[in-house]
Amino acid sequence: MWATAVGVARVRALETERENALFRDRLAQAFAAAGGLWPSSPPPVDEAARRRRTAVSFSIVIRTKFLDDLLRQASASGIRQVVLLGAGMDSRAFRMDWPEDTRLFEVDTAAPLDFKASVLRQERAVARCERITVAVDLREDWPAALAAAGHDPAAPTVWIAEGLLIYLPADAVELLLDRISTQSAPGSRMGLTLGSRGVIERFGTDASPGSAASMWVSEMPDDPVGWLTGHGWEAQSHTLRERAAAYGRPISSPPEREEGPGGLISAVRRRT
Ligand SMILES: C[S@@+](CC[C@H](N)C(=O)[O-])C[C@H]1O[C@@H](n2cnc3c(N)ncnc32)[C@H](O)[C@@H]1O
Repeated sequence: MWATAVGVARVRALETERENALFRDRLAQAFAAAGGLWPSSPPPVDEAARRRRTAVSFSIVIRTKFLDDLLRQASASGIRQVVLLGAGMDSRAFRMDWPEDTRLFEVDTAAPLDFKASVLRQERAVARCERITVAVDLREDWPAALAAAGHDPAAPTVWIAEGLLIYLPADAVELLLDRISTQSAPGSRMGLTLGSRGVIERFGTDASPGSAASMWVSEMPDDPVGWLTGHGWEAQSHTLRERAAAYGRPISSPPEREEGPGGLISAVRRRT
């Protein structure tokens, strides 16, 4: 399941090699290599799989940049607690500039965190903030584990769930959001990526067994902003197309269908 996290690292390693990279993730290549996906990864089985991989890779690059910006804004707003849910091979603790006193929690299950730790040791990587890993399954009582690791729900937090919710069934997504909301002091922020409507039908149904897309189970609600308002958040949704254009990577092909709200979400916890 967490092999998908190494696939994401491979995409970030490729982006890092570009001259006009939207971010530089120097550890991504080491994660991909340790996972057997660098310098090359198994080629897509057919043309449709190749197109899917290209599209998914593109979306990973854009969402990474989107959430990097969101985190910088959160730091600028004074937030000093960061929680990466389903952190995988996210290397933001190592590659971004953090204000002093920032505590960054990486929540994932033990196996990916152990794999990550071994690569970090081998690379002699040094975090640029206080980095705390929390090995817990998000289906269990992770708020307790996070609190035990030092998270303070009374202080604002910026939460990131990147490439995670698409793998969780709808009731698990609801529960996760309820729990995030309960742990979020006013002024907290959140960055989410949601599967856009129809993506499972387009990408998942004929995906090869074991591939990331074959494990996708949930798409965003019809009205993500309204959904988050109901949970106490002021949210904005962005489409991949709009963000890609803003970052100088416009999608040249016209949309195949009318585009609904986007799956890149930024939100601020309402002050009550
Ligand atoms: C596609 S990866 C994305 C990783 C990271 N957020 C990124 O974008 O680089 C999904 C991650 O979610 C984690 N994950 C999925 N279900 C989980 C669960 N129930 N509890 C904890 N982590 C989970 C996986 O282990 C994996 O590392």
